[in-house]
Amino acid sequence: MYRFAPSLLSANFARLGEEVENVVASGADWVHFDVMDNHYVPNLTVGPLVCKAIRPLTKAPIDVHLMVKPVDRIISGFIEAGADFISFHPEASEHIDRSLALIRDGGAKAGLALNPATPLYVLDHVMDRLDFILLMSVNPGFGGQAFIPSTLDKLAATRARLDAWSRKSGRHLLLEVDGGVKVDNIAEIARAGADTFVAGSAVFEAGLDSDPHRYDSVIARLRAELATVGA
Ligand code: DX5
Ligand code: ZN
Repeated sequence: MYRFAPSLLSANFARLGEEVENVVASGADWVHFDVMDNHYVPNLTVGPLVCKAIRPLTKAPIDVHLMVKPVDRIISGFIEAGADFISFHPEASEHIDRSLALIRDGGAKAGLALNPATPLYVLDHVMDRLDFILLMSVNPGFGGQAFIPSTLDKLAATRARLDAWSRKSGRHLLLEVDGGVKVDNIAEIARAGADTFVAGSAVFEAGLDSDPHRYDSVIARLRAELATVGA
């Protein structure tokens, strides 16, 4: 019922393929792939070429989080690279409905990523275009930032919307949270309504003593916290 999506942003990029294999072997459900363009956000990461290179290494879904502006051209690049989930920020698209359609038409699941200050009403007219919602609990651009507490209320409000939408449409959207998720706050984040959790620094800075590139222990601790929440 809960999904775990470690963010490669905090992985060792010099051995990225190995990190992908190790984090999935350590218990990750998805691989979260942060794409930054030094324009929409003040940092620069990786693009479709790198997604394509890691695609054959795992069967786990690749969850591409686009922090780029504009978004449309790069969407097709990521579809060709084998992305399973693609989200973008509404502020980065001139035509949100069209960008969402491009993702689904390419066969991937479509999501909107909302910054801490982005209001929920951006969802109003696109619910039927969405497969998931990603709530940012930090300002996008960097790993290792502190969880913004007001995200808890926003998660609860989003959960209420999604439940109402489920009753109306029969469709179930995933609610993903991204930023500052740690062992000591994941349970309360789940209680507020999230079902899919991105964690970057919490995972990749917690390798095993016996093997710093295995993350079994921290992923087990995160899951144990979730187990206390119940269904
Ligand atoms: C931030 C990224 C996040 C980031 C999370 O812009 O979208 O996915 O990697 O990192 P942590 O878990 O360290 O906050
Ligand atoms: Zn992200």
